[in-house]
Parts: sequence; C-alpha cells; structure tokens
Amino acid sequence: MASGTIGVGRPIRLTPVNERQDRWWIEPLLVVLGLGSLLFYAGWAGIQNAYYYADPYLSPLYSPCLASICQHVTFPLVGAWWTLSPALLVIGIPVGFRGTCYYLRRAYYRSFFSSPPGCAVPDMSKTYRGETAFPFILQNVHRYFFWLALILVILHWGGVIESFQFGGSFGMGVGTLVMLADAVLLTGYSLSCHSCRHIFGGGLDLFSSARTRYKIWGLLSRMNEQHMLFFWLSLGGVMFTDLYVRAVAMGVIHDVRFF
Ligand code: FES
Repeated sequence: MASGTIGVGRPIRLTPVNERQDRWWIEPLLVVLGLGSLLFYAGWAGIQNAYYYADPYLSPLYSPCLASICQHVTFPLVGAWWTLSPALLVIGIPVGFRGTCYYLRRAYYRSFFSSPPGCAVPDMSKTYRGETAFPFILQNVHRYFFWLALILVILHWGGVIESFQFGGSFGMGVGTLVMLADAVLLTGYSLSCHSCRHIFGGGLDLFSSARTRYKIWGLLSRMNEQHMLFFWLSLGGVMFTDLYVRAVAMGVIHDVRFF
C-alpha cells in the first residue's frame, strides 16, 4: 500500500492500494458477527423487563437492580415512577466502559468503520482524523468509566455471594458456578484494562521507589496481554449468565443443586 506524493518537482500521486493476498477480512468479519449478535441479544434481553431473576440468581444485565419495581432489588435508589426495564438504569456503565475500551476501539474501527479494515489495507474513508476531533475525542473518558465499571464488578461479587443463599440457608447450584465464572471473567477484564495498568504503573519516574506498585503493575501487565481474550470471554459470560438465569426463571431448565 502507498499513498501521498514522492520525488521533487511535479508531485506523483499514488493511489492507496491493497496488496495483501491473505484473508485479512476474516477478523473484521468475525468481529461484526460476534459483536453484532452479542449486542443484539443484550439489547433484546435488556428491554425485556422479565425473567431476569431466578432466586437467588440475578442476571448481570440487571445488576445492580436499582428500581423499586425490580424482581430483586439490590438498592432501592429509584422509586415506583420508573416503569421501564431496570437494566436501562445501569446499562450505560458497561456500554460506556466497553465502547471506549482500547481493544474494542481498534476492533470496531476496523470492522464497522473500515478505518482501516486491516493492517496495510487502505481506509475506506478519504479523511482521517482519528481521535483528535469530535466525536471520537470523547473516547478519552475511558479512564473514568473504569472506576464506574469497578463499582459494578464489586456489586457483581455481591450477587455471587447472594447466589450461595437458598431460602436463608447456604447452598450451591449450577447457577452459582455460572455467576462465579461471570464475576471472575468480568474482574479479569476490568483489571487487565489499560487504564488500570496505568493507575499502578503510570506517573512514576522510578519503579525502584515504589516496589509494591511495580509488582502489581507487572501482574496487571501480564493480564493486559490477554485483554482481548478477557473482553470476549467476559462479554460472552454476561450473555450466557443472563441466558441461564432467563431459562431457569422461565422454567425451561431446572437449576441443579449440589447441596
Ligand atoms: Fe479495554 Fe480499558 S482498555 S477495558
């Protein structure tokens, strides 16, 4: 691929061409299909306002449940005037966090905007301003969404603890393991975030003067290498957990209790 002008005197304009012979389009296509179907399911399940609680399991799409109309109220912050799906009260945080995620930005710029569709493949758009202008300059809010997402993750762990409570007594079912796996994956995704890594390792001149931060930064850096994997596993985990809770609440499947 080449573009721009070369030489002296009369400029020679080179038209960007794609000379890649490999199947570079497979990755963006998979992202469109995977992300598109997961977002479609999330949107559908999020506005259902039904079958999101199967005692003691609360769907992560509705967690924390903040409206008094909730089938299972986490915190009654919003009164009975709210009659829409309670998921709409919290969905902005995961959408904002994931939508501004450094990995996902690369993925959807390539897949949905073709900007560029792949390495050494020309942009579809003639103009490119990246994230230096509105609206994509707003992606910088990611570091603030990280803190909000962290609160959600902590509340998800509260949901995991509740999933061990069956009618006031301690127990464990398949749903408990599903909730647990979901919380672990969400925690992995959040802690492997680039912003989280920067919180511990950024702004330091000398790591030798901050040994503890250095060790945490080293651990987070190793997790950060798997951030893309955490993204997909945690996103799939949220949808699977909602689907499991939904199926139990609808009576389609029975939650097997271990004890
Ligand atoms: Fe992906 Fe922060 S970079 S969640």
